[in-house]
Amino acid sequence: MKTIKNIDIKGKTFLIRVDYNVPVRDGKVTNDLRIRASLPTLNYLLEHGAKRLILISHLGRPEGKLTPETSLQPVVNDLQKIYKDQTIGFYPLPDSEQPIPIPENIKIALLENLRTNPSEENNDETFIKNIVKSTQADYYVQDGFAVLHRAHASTDAIKNILPVYAGLLVEKEVNNLKKILDNPEKPLLVIIGGAKVEDKQPLIDTFLKKADQIFVGGKIASSGYQSENPKITVADDFDENAAGDKLDIGPLSTTKLVNLITDAKTIIWNGLLGYAEDPAYATASTITAEMLGEKENTTTVICGGDTTGFVENLMKEHKNLKYTLVSTGGGAALEFLLKKPMPGLKAIID
Ligand code: 3PG
Repeated sequence: MKTIKNIDIKGKTFLIRVDYNVPVRDGKVTNDLRIRASLPTLNYLLEHGAKRLILISHLGRPEGKLTPETSLQPVVNDLQKIYKDQTIGFYPLPDSEQPIPIPENIKIALLENLRTNPSEENNDETFIKNIVKSTQADYYVQDGFAVLHRAHASTDAIKNILPVYAGLLVEKEVNNLKKILDNPEKPLLVIIGGAKVEDKQPLIDTFLKKADQIFVGGKIASSGYQSENPKITVADDFDENAAGDKLDIGPLSTTKLVNLITDAKTIIWNGLLGYAEDPAYATASTITAEMLGEKENTTTVICGGDTTGFVENLMKEHKNLKYTLVSTGGGAALEFLLKKPMPGLKAIID
């Protein structure tokens, strides 16, 4: 893998694909793990004399529309708090190769949410070429580990425009996950939850080849997923609100999960088990996070933005919780563990 350690950095402009797909509520970032995780790369480049860093990212799935809710402005505010001595630039996505007029004193700038232009998800070469040319980038750095499984312009088409170098986060995540892959101690339990039903369902079948047990909770279970496979346990009782919405897995399913956790030696958890933003529906996720964080002689891997954010918040209250690996990648980490082809990774390795 070519990384930024292989480049002569001094005086160069870097276009850096980060994954700032962070939870935002009322215009504020509620968990900044993915922002903090990008800092080693940014600081390394700045310390080695980079002229300028231009950051690009997506936020959510805005289907090509820019609104106050889909803007990356909240992330700019967070970056500004981290880099207090500098002004963080924030610019719209370019629609031509015309250079963006960025003042000399701006060393770090972010462009608006890539997915507010449909060309990003259409893997459009012209779109990413416009970004490269208009930012006058010398190098392209891929540090958005969590999005490497997508064939989008900023992960895939870019390789036809500029050589792609891995950032330090991508390097670290790949090395850490490889260690888990090499020799997972058995039994291996995979816990799948979260809201991205259409993404996760196909992964469950593929994980059957590797895992001894799979537990399914979250929206996948509550929206009716069923399986006859004896290795798959799907939550089948739920805590509901007055309107009958299934917002957390219920006590019977939680007990089944607790038993599976007790027996497992390697546990991979991706996706919250209920609507854990509301403490009333965070019971199953809290029990799981606490059990995994306290379990001895077990490899525990937490992946995905919401799950890692939840676990991190809990770790602030309970200092004794420890996990083998907390990954910024959700679907990306799972697909990596399944050795699925990942366009963003291929672009770096090639
Ligand atoms: C994630 O949160 O897993 C990544 O940012 C990728 O987001 P996506 O599933 O919307 O492509």
